[in-house]
Amino acid sequence: MKRIVTVLPALLVCFFSMTAGAQPIQIPVLTSANALVLQVDSVKNVSVIYFGPKLTNSNEYALVNQTYRQTEDYTNVLDAAYPVAGSRNLLEPALAVKHADGNQSLDLRFVRQEITKTSPDVTLYSIYLKDPVYNFEVLLNYRAYFRQDLIEQWTVIRHHEKGNVQLEKYASANIYLKGGPFYLNQYHGDWAKEMQPEESRITHGIHTLDSKLGTRANLFQPPVFMVSVGKPATEDEGTVLYGALGYSGNFRTDLELDFRDNLKIISGINNYASAYSLKPGEEFETPVLIYLLSSKGKGHASRQMHDWARQYKILDGKGSRLTLLNNWEATYFDFNEDKLKGLLRDTKELGVDLFLLDDGWFANKYPRNNDRTGLGDWEENKTKLPNGIATLVKEATNNQVKFGIWVEPEMVSPKSELYEKHPDWVVKQPAREEHYFRNQLVLDLSNVKVQDFVFGIIDSLFTRNPALAYIKWDCNAVIYNAHSVKLANQSHFYIEYVRGLYNVLKRIRAKYPVVPMMLCSGGGGRVDYAALQYFTEYWPSDNTDPLERIFMQWEYSYFYPAVASANHVTDWGKQPIKYRVDVAMMGKPGFDIVVKHLSENDLRFCKEAITMFRSYNGIVWQGDQYRLADPRLSPVASVLYLAKDKSAGVIFNYLVNNRYGQGSTVPIQLKGLDDKANYRLEEINLYPGTSAALDSTKIYSGEFLMKVGFNPVVNNSRTSVVLKITQVR
Ligand code: DGJ
Repeated sequence: MKRIVTVLPALLVCFFSMTAGAQPIQIPVLTSANALVLQVDSVKNVSVIYFGPKLTNSNEYALVNQTYRQTEDYTNVLDAAYPVAGSRNLLEPALAVKHADGNQSLDLRFVRQEITKTSPDVTLYSIYLKDPVYNFEVLLNYRAYFRQDLIEQWTVIRHHEKGNVQLEKYASANIYLKGGPFYLNQYHGDWAKEMQPEESRITHGIHTLDSKLGTRANLFQPPVFMVSVGKPATEDEGTVLYGALGYSGNFRTDLELDFRDNLKIISGINNYASAYSLKPGEEFETPVLIYLLSSKGKGHASRQMHDWARQYKILDGKGSRLTLLNNWEATYFDFNEDKLKGLLRDTKELGVDLFLLDDGWFANKYPRNNDRTGLGDWEENKTKLPNGIATLVKEATNNQVKFGIWVEPEMVSPKSELYEKHPDWVVKQPAREEHYFRNQLVLDLSNVKVQDFVFGIIDSLFTRNPALAYIKWDCNAVIYNAHSVKLANQSHFYIEYVRGLYNVLKRIRAKYPVVPMMLCSGGGGRVDYAALQYFTEYWPSDNTDPLERIFMQWEYSYFYPAVASANHVTDWGKQPIKYRVDVAMMGKPGFDIVVKHLSENDLRFCKEAITMFRSYNGIVWQGDQYRLADPRLSPVASVLYLAKDKSAGVIFNYLVNNRYGQGSTVPIQLKGLDDKANYRLEEINLYPGTSAALDSTKIYSGEFLMKVGFNPVVNNSRTSVVLKITQVR
């Protein structure tokens, strides 16, 4: 695998190498608040001696270890920066190999380090390690984002042995934490039930979070987690480590509490069915593990993560987003040109930016009139769209709205011309019966011809319709019967699939760098920070019941900023339109309803809410998010988005418990304000005919609002209340 070349010019490079028998040297990986201190000892072992808040006197890092009086480390490598298998290590390794001669031992010793400041805020620490016996090397990379206290860690593995080396396990990173107890906050899910949190104390032994689904890998378990140190962290207190593997395929995170009560977190590509045969001279680069330590609770950690994601990771993270009307739940597969022209007029009437044509527009021999046929045959269906997409794009322009389209390019229906023509492009076991997930199969993206085909689908849509403004990229099946007829080594399949996917996405982005694309996967089966480099937004769940969404969006928001969260107003749930729209506004709102079915007042409300949203979307998308009242702990959920300069914000408040008398009986404390400034609270998104319960002429100090709080007057007749907070000068 090719190494990624740093795009930014190296501002400063320094080299350091060490000879045997020298004094221990320290490599402090520094961010604004924290230090991750590595140490090279006299026999060139690289260990982690400290990870925590920065100390003023850096000489004192050397004193940390002596303050622990734990039992003996029989291996001398329990605190290894990157533990390997087969020599002294007795616990879980990050790297395990079989050498060209069949030997399974590995030992890695320090060779040299390079520190490269790639921008004023970003420093890359590269540590070269080598096996003293075998010609086998590992480059450990730590990229530190100073202001956001965030580290990306990954490795590059290579060798010059006389034959291939089999990588049995090849994690991206190991994080070593001392001073528990430790509490893990992990997530699980299923279709329409994404991001369900669970917190537990980490016990001795290994706890594994993983996926073996191939595509939409995080459907059952996303690759994000939190570990609290000492006690479970709250929004504003406690030490918490956030972790997120940037990888869109099978992953594995092992959390091992060792016999001395220290914790190792080893995370990377899942080695399940994936031993990798590495040729001499070939480089294997692992995906990045993203992690961030906060000693100010979960809220601070998430704001840091959002800042980092918007600045460095999510495509156009600092930009704005298009609001839209989607036809999926309004029509399903049942539409034609006339109906869509009507929906284009509705798009304009509603006041959103774009119409998004969903599934069902393609395939002729096996028309896509349901989810059993046609995937792979990406020509317009002649019965539904006799004049093609081009006419619709033109019609959209006539209505002064933009046009976007749904694709699911990695997939194929068993009943499709594509399958008939290219059965060898399909992931399946040649001698076994086929298994379908949503009646479909996955295309073999490890095959370059398939990559060309998938790229061609998007490319031809844009070539034929240059005004196309948005892509919804869906992915509804997992991989059963993992096998490629093209691959010589089947245990490379899962890895090559993801490489193939990234190759296609890179090509798309090289040619179409800015067009917004939604990462959809029949719900939140697929969001991760590697994929988000190519996508502007993700679809958290098909479950758009706003009550459910409050909980889900709350959890997603710990890791991903609102600018990337596509939230649609649909007919799911029993809540009134105001509640549904208000929930959608905590991100990038869209509508997936029959506009004509809206009552006059409902339509008026939607239009006014969209217009109003334009006045504060910058705050939601680019501001700081504060979680004020937790729906799991209180009958009212409350979330604040605050402009960076603290001059204005928007507070969303919802009743989440319908039992008698529930509501905002007590005040909710605001956070993040300027305590010396004065603020006014004004209710916005009022439903026609209703009036505000809060007096917008009253002025409160920031101190009052943060110490005493505000009351949004949420109750069973005011279930959703949106407040604008503005500094009064
Ligand atoms: C699953 C998506 O989540 C839905 O929004 C819709 O696009 C369907 N697929 C279409 O098949």
